[in-house]
Amino acid sequence: MTSGGDAPGMNAAIRSVVRACAFHGVECVGIYRGYQGMIEGDFQVMGPRSVHNIINKGGTVLKSARSKEFRTPEGRQKAYDALKKENVDALVLIGGDGTFTGGLIFNQEYGFPVMGIPGTIDNDIFGTNFTLGYDTALNTVVEAIDKIRDTASSHDRLFFIEVMGRDAGHIALNAGVGAGAEEILIPEENLGLDRLLESLERSKRTGKSSSIVVVAEGDKIGKNVFELKDYVEQYHPDYDVRVSVLGHMQRGGSPSCFDRVLASRMGVKAVESLLEGKSNYMVGVRDARMILTPLDEAVKGQSEINQELLRVSNIMTI
Ligand code: F6P
Repeated sequence: MTSGGDAPGMNAAIRSVVRACAFHGVECVGIYRGYQGMIEGDFQVMGPRSVHNIINKGGTVLKSARSKEFRTPEGRQKAYDALKKENVDALVLIGGDGTFTGGLIFNQEYGFPVMGIPGTIDNDIFGTNFTLGYDTALNTVVEAIDKIRDTASSHDRLFFIEVMGRDAGHIALNAGVGAGAEEILIPEENLGLDRLLESLERSKRTGKSSSIVVVAEGDKIGKNVFELKDYVEQYHPDYDVRVSVLGHMQRGGSPSCFDRVLASRMGVKAVESLLEGKSNYMVGVRDARMILTPLDEAVKGQSEINQELLRVSNIMTI
């Protein structure tokens, strides 16, 4: 099942789970539309051939949803009944925090074995260096910023570019460094408006005629990109400022090779861990090795921002 915000690489993970099941002689059932489809019994038996030609596709062929009904005990009872009717005896959940929280509650209430695969472009899950879709999203964002830089530089403009990440600045920080942004605003650190102005003034003084500021959706300053534009224009009416919100294009597109390989590894690890009798874990990758993290730790833990990269980004703004 895939649930929550979709991410490139989810299809590659579905393919891997289905084929790992077939390899080990286990019947695999796809659940459509996340927990909502589980409640409604929207199931489809899947074999190795039902997942051909999807490794390269963005989105999720199983579709995704954020189910309100599953948050109620009545909804979870319906889901349990539907799973029992279909003879399902373990779940592989591909998604983020919300998906795993749902899985944990379901396990506590019904003892259903669950295994999580982290799929979200935000890379904000504790217990893995990388979540599925993050690498692809980074490349999408860098490509978009490169294009904006072309026009920013032709017109000597300052651009505020909003990238996804309500609670996490991983996309903003990594794509910002990769695209050579002049400043990066993230939820984990408060750069402060004064420092932003200072930095922009220094850029101008030292000969930069255009600038790119990458802003994570949930940045700590608490102003959205349009408010930031107004703020800068108030102090520097001479600046030609524009805003670009990249939005959901960051969640789409064909997954990168990195995400496809990671998804293939995670799917196999998830199925084989369940077959070994393990439950309530999330598969992840650390130092290039596949690992398991207890699902409650994955949900409760914080994915730390890379302080060394933050320092590098500060040095690069000189
Ligand atoms: O969690 C993934 C994510 O894309 C976030 O970066 C973003 O804040 C959120 O989902 C958007 O959610 P929705 O597609 O429901 O608007």
